[in-house]
Amino acid sequence: MEKNWKLETIAVQEGYTPENGGPRVVPITQSTTFKYDDAQSVADLFDLKRAGFFYTRLANPTVDCFEKKIAALEGGVAAVATTSGQSANALAILNIARAGDHIVSISSLYGGTFTMFASSMKKLGIEFTFVSPEATDEELEKEIRPNTKAIFGETLANPALIVLDIQRYADIAHKHGLPLIVDNTFPTPVLCRPFEFGADIVTHSTTKYIDGHATSIGGIVVEKGGFPWDNGKFPELVEPDVTYHGTSYLRTSPPAPIR
Ligand SMILES: Cc1ncc(COP(=O)(O)O)c(C=O)c1O
Repeated sequence: MEKNWKLETIAVQEGYTPENGGPRVVPITQSTTFKYDDAQSVADLFDLKRAGFFYTRLANPTVDCFEKKIAALEGGVAAVATTSGQSANALAILNIARAGDHIVSISSLYGGTFTMFASSMKKLGIEFTFVSPEATDEELEKEIRPNTKAIFGETLANPALIVLDIQRYADIAHKHGLPLIVDNTFPTPVLCRPFEFGADIVTHSTTKYIDGHATSIGGIVVEKGGFPWDNGKFPELVEPDVTYHGTSYLRTSPPAPIR
């Protein structure tokens, strides 16, 4: 049955369907691991033959509900929850960039994000160029290099409250085969859904308005789905690594660099 839920209903209902006689409210599943009757069931989970929970770092029923809810609110295909907004932005970058890569970021950013990008990421070998939100398309495009892997910006910058022209940056990113990553912490999907304007990945510090009670640090990364990761710029996401089939034991010469 196709759901035709409004945002308010998604916020309350999405991600958890109580079973007959089950708890009405999403239970907090405080368990590192999950039990199966036979080893084959766990082997099938490891082999991704079926979905399920086996280790909480990878997936947990409570976190799963939260991920599904935010993914649905944003209109994305899936989400990964993190322990903070800082780690959400770190994961969003580290998933698609590695040492030697480059990211263009709009300079109006939360200070902690700026420091992580300018300093911590630099130590990992990922270089950022910060472009003023006042920059013209030409000025921005001049900063895109062959090793650039994404454009990053905040929907409403913290604390400057500069509004990101999502559509404009999405168009420029897509012209160069890049995803646009948008930190949507301040508006939340209730006030702005960046995917509707062309963004490809959305992050949140859920510590802020999504928590709302000022009790829990958290973050999330959501993917819209449909970005052409196989456009040649992201082989690590779409092609098996040379070491994958045990070739690292067999090869006699070093593998060609991936890029
Ligand atoms: C826009 C934005 N992104 C990310 C962060 C970092 O999130 P956290 O404090 O949950 O690590 C913040 C925190 O203030 C923020 O305002």
